[in-house]
Amino acid sequence: MLTGAFNLFMTLPELTTYVAEQFAETYGRPPRWIVAAPGRVNVIGEHTDYNDGFVLPMAIERYAVMAGDHAASGKNVIQIRDTSGVDAALVDLSAPIKRDALKWSNYPRGVIAGFQARGIRPAGLDVLLHSTVPLGGGLSSSAALEVCMATLLEAATGRQLDPVQKALLCQQAEHEFAGVPCGIMDQFVFVMGRENHLLLLDCRSRQTDFVPMNDPAVSLLIINTNVRHELGNGEYARRRAECEVAAKILGVPSLRDADADRLEGARSKMDPVVYRRARHVIGEIERTLHAAEGIRAANWLTVGNLMYASHGSLRDDYEVSCRELDAVVEIAEAIGVKGGVFGCRMTGGGFGGCTVALVKTDAIESISKNIAVAYKRKTGIDAALFASRPAAGATVVQGQSLIAEAGAHTARGFHPRMVGRNDFTFAGNLLQRHRLRSIAARGHHYPEHTFINQIRARAAQPCGQQPVGRRWRAAALHIAENGHA
Ligand code: GLA
Repeated sequence: MLTGAFNLFMTLPELTTYVAEQFAETYGRPPRWIVAAPGRVNVIGEHTDYNDGFVLPMAIERYAVMAGDHAASGKNVIQIRDTSGVDAALVDLSAPIKRDALKWSNYPRGVIAGFQARGIRPAGLDVLLHSTVPLGGGLSSSAALEVCMATLLEAATGRQLDPVQKALLCQQAEHEFAGVPCGIMDQFVFVMGRENHLLLLDCRSRQTDFVPMNDPAVSLLIINTNVRHELGNGEYARRRAECEVAAKILGVPSLRDADADRLEGARSKMDPVVYRRARHVIGEIERTLHAAEGIRAANWLTVGNLMYASHGSLRDDYEVSCRELDAVVEIAEAIGVKGGVFGCRMTGGGFGGCTVALVKTDAIESISKNIAVAYKRKTGIDAALFASRPAAGATVVQGQSLIAEAGAHTARGFHPRMVGRNDFTFAGNLLQRHRLRSIAARGHHYPEHTFINQIRARAAQPCGQQPVGRRWRAAALHIAENGHA
């Protein structure tokens, strides 16, 4: 059984191939559509989205991937199986869709219900889900699942939603089906994320501004404390309610409209806890705007200091950190700029999950090692660390148009320019299968040249005159020569 760690580091094309294969194994035929939605890390701007403030997240190279096809049973049911072997979700489309005891299924359920409410009625589907976004890691695995489902439904129904409407539909699913009154940050970055850019989002006007983050000298290192975070337990909702109380006392529509002076002026009228919550939000909105400027100017020291200040405020005023998140930030601070760390803070809702550190790229290895060792010593827990460049938002990796193209093509005959992504997927399967088996069996990677030789050998075999065979062969040769699709 192929599970766990190595799987987390697959690139999107590798994941696509893997999920296509798993779909074929599960349902006995290749998938018609494959879609992916990334995870996210918020660089700064925490708990500001539901206060109409600014956030600065990016999509990361971890993905929820869904492969799907029309339901073979012909029934009006969407069945979603998961490669990890958790119980399958069965969503009956002929009855009103309600929350279910199977917790994870509520995210896709909410999205399907949202499509129906907008008059878009998907038919039955067989779906396979595989996700490398750590669950409960504060990287928004739940919103990734929602946006992934929405993207699959778009592909399956041929109805493309307006991006803002798509994000709002997914947010509504989280509110109504998961019971978490989240803001709009996660769903927006999943829909709109852009490679090599952070998304500076004004959560009031919903205006987006892309901040380039492509200096090869600096990287974002994500450190998972492996302490699960859970937003459904009421703490998140409580924070949101406290912010609303503060805004009311201040006489403003939301904390976005208040500043530090106004807050000080009203301090005596406020419960001290409510005051501290408001102080965090007002300060964090300012820090986020400064950090965006700092990133544009490559002023990494400033950005790093803002990240530490954000963490302190989340820990002391907003009280959403925990011992393990604090431990990582302290370790990072002790490594310091000399050791290659500019800044570090908890990211996401809090109460566990991940921290994000801004680091010098050439020091990633030593920093990762130091943090892992010190964290284990302090807490007894193994952390999981990985770096990610800003990734693109949700995509249809394999869709109807490619399949239609391949079909039309088979009828017309082969032209090398028409080698589609499907062909690369099939050709890549061979490579991937060997790689996965070898890692599973021996715990390490198969030597690269062995894959290439496999591909060459396979591509050299006679493949008849069928255009599909010839397209496959061209794709295989391309991979053999270039090492990738
Ligand atoms: C969760 C929510 C977001 C946001 C963050 C905190 O991830 O889903 O909307 O509020 O917490 O910044």
